[in-house]
Amino acid sequence: MSTLTKEENALEAAALAELKPRLRTGTLFRLREPLAKKTTLRVGGPADLYIEPDSERDLAEVLVFCARTGTPLMMLGRGSNLLIRDGGIRGVVVALNHANFTRIELDGARLRCGAGARLKAIANDAKRALLTGFEFLEGIPGNLGGALRMNAGAMGAATFDLVESVRSMDRAGNVLETAARDIPVEYRECAFFRDHIALGAVLVGKPAALAEIEIKMQANNRKRWDSQPAAPSAGCIFKNSPAIPSGRLVDELGLKGARIGGACVSTVHGNFIVNDENASARDVLELIELIKTKAKEERGIELRTEVQIVGEEPEI
Ligand code: EPU
Repeated sequence: MSTLTKEENALEAAALAELKPRLRTGTLFRLREPLAKKTTLRVGGPADLYIEPDSERDLAEVLVFCARTGTPLMMLGRGSNLLIRDGGIRGVVVALNHANFTRIELDGARLRCGAGARLKAIANDAKRALLTGFEFLEGIPGNLGGALRMNAGAMGAATFDLVESVRSMDRAGNVLETAARDIPVEYRECAFFRDHIALGAVLVGKPAALAEIEIKMQANNRKRWDSQPAAPSAGCIFKNSPAIPSGRLVDELGLKGARIGGACVSTVHGNFIVNDENASARDVLELIELIKTKAKEERGIELRTEVQIVGEEPEI
């Protein structure tokens, strides 16, 4: 007997009949695709429908299908800042992992990068091109699309410090080129990408000597390895509040090492939850609640999650 709900069956039927025949053979199309291993935290249920388009044309087909059928759509980056609930994701999950979205092209002091390009690859290509400013990207386990959406940052720098212009697609499948100065950004947020899909960006650096770039990269790398855990995690769980960095707060609350099921507050850095014993999303969510409650009760601080929490609770 099928355990799918009526809505899931209807989506599968519509996607197979109306969407799949319109997609090119290079586009990956999968029903009920497990997602946990596509995230760095390694928890969460499947996507109803998972698609890796091979072109902007096929991405537009998917967006138009979603708009016409009222199907929710979620973009998946490298899943490094993501907590998917155990019931998985209703609707369509799209990832821009195809080679047509991961290109990095050098043009003077500019890098034209696809949204699927890994940040580490961008940092390394910039180094080879003797461009500075990209060093902080080296240790962020994401891709450019996710970094634009979150204005990801590290080591005092943020993604939009580098962006000159952005190529994106709206929900109707239209492509836009937008100057970075016309896109408002905040700490760890860029609302423009709530309703636009990042396709790529032009990033600008400054010429520098190889040794200078290497010294910066190595210093970042050392700081990261010394202060952040290597076990599976979703990076920092909470945004920093002006009063105190969240890692220090969790540390002062005595919560490092606190555990629920397979999820544990890192003993290395208080703002990381690591999955060291086959955690479920529920374990992680309960641990987040425990930390929030203690921060509120003992210090009057309302912690806000930085990790993106998505998907459904499992049906009982
Ligand atoms: N601290 C403690 N105990 C801890 C952890 C930190 O006392 O367990 C103290 C540190 O000693 C330091 C302060 O808290 O004085 C801040 O810690 P850290 O330098 O590690 O930086 P952070 O503010 O915790 C931020 C970003 C990280 C980024 C690092 C390095 C946020 C929420 N986090 O961390 O980003 O990698 O700086 O630049 O802004 C992420 O986005 O997922 C992420 C990990």
